[in-house]
Amino acid sequence: MKFSYSSVVTAAIALLPVVSAQVNSSEWNAAYAKAKSTLALLNLSDKVSLATGYCTGNIPTIPAINFTGLCLEDSALGVKDTDYSSAFPAGINVAATFNRTLMRQRGVAMGQEFRGKGVNIQLGPMMNFMRAPASGRAWEGFGGDPYLSGEGAFETITGIQSQGVQAVAKHFIDYEQEHSRMSSSSNVDDRLQHEIYLHPFLRSVQANVAAVMCSYINGTYACENNATLNGLLKYELAFQGCKLNGWFRYDDWTATPSTTSANDGLDMTMPGDIFPGSIVSWFGESLVLAVQLGTVPESRVDDMATRILAGWYLLGQEQGYPPVNFDSKDPLSSVNQHVNVQGDHASLIRTIGAASTVLLKNENNALPLNKPKTIGIIGNDAGPNPLGPNICIAKGCDIGILGMGWGSGTANYPYLITPLDAITNRSSLDGTQVYSSLDDFDLDAAADTASGKDVAFVFITADSGEGSLTVEGNAGDRNNLQAWHSGDALVEKVASVNNNTIVVVNTVGPIVVEAWIDNPNVTGLVWSGLPGEEAGNSLIDILYGAYNPSGRLPYTIGKSIDDYAAQINTSIPIGILEIPYSEGLFIDYRHFDEANITPRYEYGFGLSYTTFSYSDLIVSGSVSGAAPGPSYGFGSSLDPSLHAPVVFVNFTLTNTGNIAGHETPQLYISLPASSQSPPYILKGFDSVFINPGESREVSMELSQYDLSIWNVVTQRWEVPSGTIGVTVGASSRDHRLTGVIG
Ligand code: NOJ
Repeated sequence: MKFSYSSVVTAAIALLPVVSAQVNSSEWNAAYAKAKSTLALLNLSDKVSLATGYCTGNIPTIPAINFTGLCLEDSALGVKDTDYSSAFPAGINVAATFNRTLMRQRGVAMGQEFRGKGVNIQLGPMMNFMRAPASGRAWEGFGGDPYLSGEGAFETITGIQSQGVQAVAKHFIDYEQEHSRMSSSSNVDDRLQHEIYLHPFLRSVQANVAAVMCSYINGTYACENNATLNGLLKYELAFQGCKLNGWFRYDDWTATPSTTSANDGLDMTMPGDIFPGSIVSWFGESLVLAVQLGTVPESRVDDMATRILAGWYLLGQEQGYPPVNFDSKDPLSSVNQHVNVQGDHASLIRTIGAASTVLLKNENNALPLNKPKTIGIIGNDAGPNPLGPNICIAKGCDIGILGMGWGSGTANYPYLITPLDAITNRSSLDGTQVYSSLDDFDLDAAADTASGKDVAFVFITADSGEGSLTVEGNAGDRNNLQAWHSGDALVEKVASVNNNTIVVVNTVGPIVVEAWIDNPNVTGLVWSGLPGEEAGNSLIDILYGAYNPSGRLPYTIGKSIDDYAAQINTSIPIGILEIPYSEGLFIDYRHFDEANITPRYEYGFGLSYTTFSYSDLIVSGSVSGAAPGPSYGFGSSLDPSLHAPVVFVNFTLTNTGNIAGHETPQLYISLPASSQSPPYILKGFDSVFINPGESREVSMELSQYDLSIWNVVTQRWEVPSGTIGVTVGASSRDHRLTGVIG
């Protein structure tokens, strides 16, 4: 993507070699040693074939070196286009758990499934930002804050790669809307790039990610952008102590612009054709020719092949890796062995679904349910798609319970538990009568179903996805932040006849709830997001109190779409669409705080069935004002000294209620005003289980990097001089304890 760099960086990048991976971690060193000795056995065509996929997501075998090829498969939430595999909760849901253990476990379980199907490379996690709240694919990622996104990326990659599967950090970089994604220029300044958009990729590299996928064309094509591919990834992030080293990068599908993008740092092209179905490739024979003509040096091809082989060796895929046993394009193919890779993942999926459900309103102790005699269930989102959960191409429809958005970031459901089925089953334990009306537009039936019931649940949705599909008039990005299918009218109708109306929302991101949220008859609001295959079961765990809610919003719910700092740029330009990221550092809660806008529900907010108190804040350690980080240079942003803990934050949490559960404490820092930073910046979180009446001490650490801003003049991380505030609390606005550093 187009990337405005200061002259200092531009000058530094001009000096960069475009080839030769430099490595210094023991894991990557061993992988590179094997890759380099194997390289000696390859001819030019072999080396180029490593970099070119001739069918979607496949690199061919090279028998001479026992290279069994590479299978690359979507998605970030499960193995796509196969059977007997799981549909995990989306990235945005695992982000809402604010729970690193669950993030890691989800990665491990996905890794097991990809490996079981013989997939070498999982095309995820996705870490682009919910910069504009209507952004079509933001649900694949981890929301509106870099720190949470970075932790989601780190834990997911660590989990996936623990199973010997190569993970892909995508999409590098600045890909935050669908509209014109093939022909837009995200214009991002240097400080912003470092402090927000690069951070999850930095954490990915710290997790030893095997691959990075670049994004779509812009002012400078992302896949031939020397400043970002070579300058940021290869140079600035390349080496950090013993943890990280080389990785290879490949472009997003059909995002390769030229053969010479090899010179700009691109290592692999996928799926291999120039446009869908074309018989030639920018790489393949074109790259062989380019080497023969001297426009691409063979040393660069050596570097590409080495990087690709090194990832294969890094994950130990040269030994005993299961062969591919499914055909994602042909369900009738004899290749399909229908291997069941689900293991016991349903239980983890159910837990993550519950842990990611955010309880936003709970008046009169409406929840948890206490043996109601009658329940009314209203809304299409409570039931099934009558034609089955996988009937719509790439999940591009909003019929029945919404467990994921649409596009390449999806997977087949092995089954999909609906809220209606789950509530009906659970109700039988209490002898509850359940009534339902699933037509979103039949308001009379909705009122009949809700009227006279002890509790009425209204299910509403909002969907989005990849711009390759348009669903109900939404071309990837959402057209607005309203509930789909006149959801507001449905809620208002139900609330007009039932004074214990509880709204359940399955959505890809924020929706505006102002039409009914202050209605006293709306006693509850349960934000269930995109919970995957166990949707109904996860929900009843919350509704009946089997799981005490601990999910927190990974984005702000504003009162109006206009309250957000950034919107989808929907202009139709002649040529390239310019997308200035002019809100700068002030996305999501950072903007609401800076502009003093009261949100409906702030970032990090969520209720529990119990209460927690915070006490005894101790901030120890220090970092000197204006402390400069390492000078700009190779691997400087990953220098271990920058990331070592220097400040320690301890405090005590006490469960002051009667129910055991997790509290989700969050740490925000406030940098000196002179740094022109947002008022509060998330830099720590935890998910802590506490029994009633008990206390737990919580520790969080801050590094110099955590306390720094990117100095665009000196090109290094620097702690701004002045007092740095520390706030610990239950959300981005619920500040319980405050202190200062130093
Ligand atoms: C393009 C999408 O942007 C990317 O996320 C996906 O992994 C590839 N296509 C392969 O489907």
